[in-house]
Amino acid sequence: MPLPKLFTPIQLGGVTLPNRVVISPMCQYQADDGCMNDWHLVHLGHLAYSGAGLMMLEATHVTREGRITHGCAGLYDEHNEAAIARVIAACRRLGRNPIGIQLAHAGRKASSQVPWEGREWLRPDQSPWITVAPSAVAYGEGWHVPHELSVAEIRAQVEAFVAATVRSKRIGFDVVELHSAHGYLLHQFLSPLSNRRTDAYGTNRMKFPLEVAAAMRESWPKDRGLGARISANDWAEGGLGPDDAIAYARELKRVGFDYVCVSSGALVGHARMGPIVEGYQVPFAERVKRAVDIKVRAVGMIANPGYAEEIVESGKCDMVALARAFLDNPRWVWHAAERHGIKIDYPPSYARSRFDQWPGSKLARPEWQDESQVG
Ligand SMILES: Cc1cc2nc3c(=O)[nH]c(=O)nc-3n(C[C@H](O)[C@H](O)[C@H](O)COP(=O)(O)O)c2cc1C
Repeated sequence: MPLPKLFTPIQLGGVTLPNRVVISPMCQYQADDGCMNDWHLVHLGHLAYSGAGLMMLEATHVTREGRITHGCAGLYDEHNEAAIARVIAACRRLGRNPIGIQLAHAGRKASSQVPWEGREWLRPDQSPWITVAPSAVAYGEGWHVPHELSVAEIRAQVEAFVAATVRSKRIGFDVVELHSAHGYLLHQFLSPLSNRRTDAYGTNRMKFPLEVAAAMRESWPKDRGLGARISANDWAEGGLGPDDAIAYARELKRVGFDYVCVSSGALVGHARMGPIVEGYQVPFAERVKRAVDIKVRAVGMIANPGYAEEIVESGKCDMVALARAFLDNPRWVWHAAERHGIKIDYPPSYARSRFDQWPGSKLARPEWQDESQVG
């Protein structure tokens, strides 16, 4: 039986992922003033031996005011750097697969509540702060009106991304990912719905994101992986669509990026997304893949191992990222491998979780396991 494509290696820059399953970046909202802590140590330590070809760390912010919430992680000072270095050192002792970090700035969506407290803008008694954006246009009704960045302030943001990239290099990440989706600062520059500038950063809306990308490329080693999360649909009238994602991906390739992860949405409060069905963003990934010579990761409602294999095998994307499926089932890769008839290395202490390791047992999995989880 040929090896399922999902379980074949893929190269991102000089980094080889042993398979094409990626743990999608997921904010934990548990940091202490930007610093990762024991929550991240356990959460990521646990996922470090999940078998995923690449584990991405959550959106990690390049300035303090660029954090989405009070609980978001940062990489803007030596305290944050030391905190992440501690977590990653533990992960390296627990697993062998590559680890990446997503660098981000929330722009006008900063200064907001953690999801379980409402996910709205911080109220006056919740220690809000002044947000920044390309234009003084709020995300939605009630949201803070951001301060419009001056050209000098835009340059300072580029420097902040570079400084965080250098810190990521020092910590020893294999991959850095530039967050340019989900309505955060870079996406705010890209979309005409949030960028109303009349200077060069408005007439050429890719100018700031590409300045960041080029500066990161300069400071990130070629033998490690560099990518971006991009947006293929604002789901709102007059917003970005798949052709804009193609144009941006083409420019990122030209700058020297190795991959893009194609996502969508979350730019404006009034967005109306299409039906959220299995693989709802895969057609966007496929369009980018057909148009641009860059590795493409698909994301969004991919949870079934058969479906994940189908979209990689048919060439719609090169990799898949899973977020909620990993929160629900950190053993997803082990189970998917079994489904596809592949033996992967379990941590030896967990090898006996397979019932067929027990003398006389013919079952691979406990009978009570809910098959629908890995579907
Ligand atoms: C708890 C949680 C936190 C998330 N945080 C981030 C993040 O930090 N950066 C990002 O690009 N996307 C983030 N996302 C979006 C996911 O990475 C992913 O794109 C989205 O959930 C769709 O994939 P899924 O259907 O596999 O969950 C988050 C999603 C969840 C559920």
